[in-house]
Amino acid sequence: MDVFLRRLKTEDISQVVEIEREAFSPLWVSTSFKRELNNKYACYLVACPDAETVEAVMAETQASTQRPLWQRLARGVNEVIGRPRKSAAAEEFVAGYVSVWYQGEEAHITEIAVREKLRGRGIGELLLIGSMREAVKYGSKVMTLEVRVSNFIAQRLYEKYAFKTVGTRKGYYSDNREDAVIMTTSPIDTEEYQQLFQGLQETYRSRWGEIQFDG
Ligand SMILES: CC(C)(COP(=O)(O)OP(=O)(O)OC[C@H]1O[C@@H](n2cnc3c(N)ncnc32)[C@H](O)[C@@H]1OP(=O)(O)O)[C@@H](O)C(=O)NCCC(=O)NCCS
Repeated sequence: MDVFLRRLKTEDISQVVEIEREAFSPLWVSTSFKRELNNKYACYLVACPDAETVEAVMAETQASTQRPLWQRLARGVNEVIGRPRKSAAAEEFVAGYVSVWYQGEEAHITEIAVREKLRGRGIGELLLIGSMREAVKYGSKVMTLEVRVSNFIAQRLYEKYAFKTVGTRKGYYSDNREDAVIMTTSPIDTEEYQQLFQGLQETYRSRWGEIQFDG
């Protein structure tokens, strides 16, 4: 799996909005990504698989045709993103994103999402790794977040990186008044946490390939 991690650019915003709507809800109050690009207390990262990877994913999920490569590629990308696109190569394909706000000593993950058809392939974990690296670089002491009590998949991801539940916020989500679990790491700038983090990244590399991050 060849996925490149980098900072959000203006050209990515329409795709990130699509991912946000798909992952959360069409009624979700959309983030003003354009304004956030200038927020120096925030970090926005996107994960971009190379075109061949997107094609490979599509080939896995449906019978491949004998069309020419460029046609199959364009078709694959269009089907993953669910809407027509002029040229698959002209725009960099975004598979997922993460947003983090730096608040005092905390790096707070506000959103993390991967396109539904590309989940379960290490992209969410890659986004978490990138945001963790950036938080350490920024000087944050801990990472925190809120997650729906019912969102076990996301909780598993955070637990893997040693986030612990430290409390709940009653009725936190306005759509269904669901409670949020508050999760936080131990201090991330310690040797102990960094050892754990290095080990997890090693495991990630051996499973998914090199971590390509233009941080
Ligand atoms: C949460 C999310 C970002 C994970 O992204 P992903 O690319 O599918 O996750 P990865 O493939 O990188 O998996 C990383 C870890 O997440 C957990 N995980 C992922 N899919 C899982 C599943 N189906 N069941 C249980 N745990 C799962 C596991 O801990 C996994 O590590 P493992 O493979 O070693 O078991 C993705 O499911 C998503 O976009 N969900 C919708 C938006 C959302 O809920 N965001 C979180 C808001 S707090």
